[in-house]
Amino acid sequence: MTRREALKRMGAFAALLSLELTGVSALTSCSNKKARRIIFFFTATGNSLFVAKMLSDEILSIPQELKKNDLVYEADEIGFVFPDYAASAPLIVREFISKAVFRAPYIFSVITYGNFAANVCEWWDKFANERGLHQQYIKSLMMVDNYLPVFDMNEQITIDKHTDENLATIIQEVAAHEEYIEKGDLGRFSEEGLERLRESHFPMTAQQLIDVNHDKCISCGICTQVCPHGNLKLSSEGVIADGSCEFCLACVHNCTQKALSLKSRMEGFPGERNPEARYRHPEISINEIVRANQQRI
Ligand SMILES: Cc1cc2nc3c(=O)[nH]c(=O)nc-3n(C[C@H](O)[C@H](O)[C@H](O)COP(=O)(O)O)c2cc1C
Repeated sequence: MTRREALKRMGAFAALLSLELTGVSALTSCSNKKARRIIFFFTATGNSLFVAKMLSDEILSIPQELKKNDLVYEADEIGFVFPDYAASAPLIVREFISKAVFRAPYIFSVITYGNFAANVCEWWDKFANERGLHQQYIKSLMMVDNYLPVFDMNEQITIDKHTDENLATIIQEVAAHEEYIEKGDLGRFSEEGLERLRESHFPMTAQQLIDVNHDKCISCGICTQVCPHGNLKLSSEGVIADGSCEFCLACVHNCTQKALSLKSRMEGFPGERNPEARYRHPEISINEIVRANQQRI
């Protein structure tokens, strides 16, 4: 589905957005040239890729960009779209902005999350500033929560999180070059409690995390292609998971046979809320996730 088609589906907001798409507010001030906007994204289940596609026709996958030597980018507008992991950014996103140089008069981020964003935008602003990346706009966007230990995907897809309306607002605000860094709501957490959560989340190995049911596995290799770290491989004994893991869950969610699942990380604590329920954004295909994340050819 193209960006225009998807925006049409967003109904009442489409008319407003079509103004942005025709370039009315994205013209550079002294010429009739349309501003060049590059979006860098990371995704496991398609939410962030969908948002990236809504924001620009020029989108670049962070796991693919990281393979290059020359990481210097220049445009009129540069944006980042990625999921919130434990009120922070995925490790691969942190690595990318630490290595690359970005030059643009307007730089922004949209962080997709599922249930509780806490102060992720302020955290990201500070993290990026410390690495020389100064942003004008950072906002979170609530979408389906793909965190399998806590959420049932069959329930998640039925909840109206007002994603379309909120995304429409973001598209409009970014087109107007608004300057805004979203303030955090810590909920029942203290600042220190959140920091402990972030630290306890990373790192781990794919072997510690992923269970492969060899009776269900048909060796199609999809899991080996959607892993942004190339942690899964096909062997004569079937799929083997190993290597430093992001916990992004791309392999588990995108397995068409539900042959991959999460191991229990604590005695007596189930690995998943509903092992039969998996998620991928309805407008994003497996092939798009493969193209975005593939490490093994
Ligand atoms: C390891 C992990 C940690 C997560 N942590 C949070 C979180 O702290 N708060 C939240 O609201 N959602 C959290 N989520 C949900 C994702 O941020 C959300 O579903 C996101 O939109 C997924 O984006 P994607 O489809 O582009 O991968 C987490 C998901 C994973 C896999």
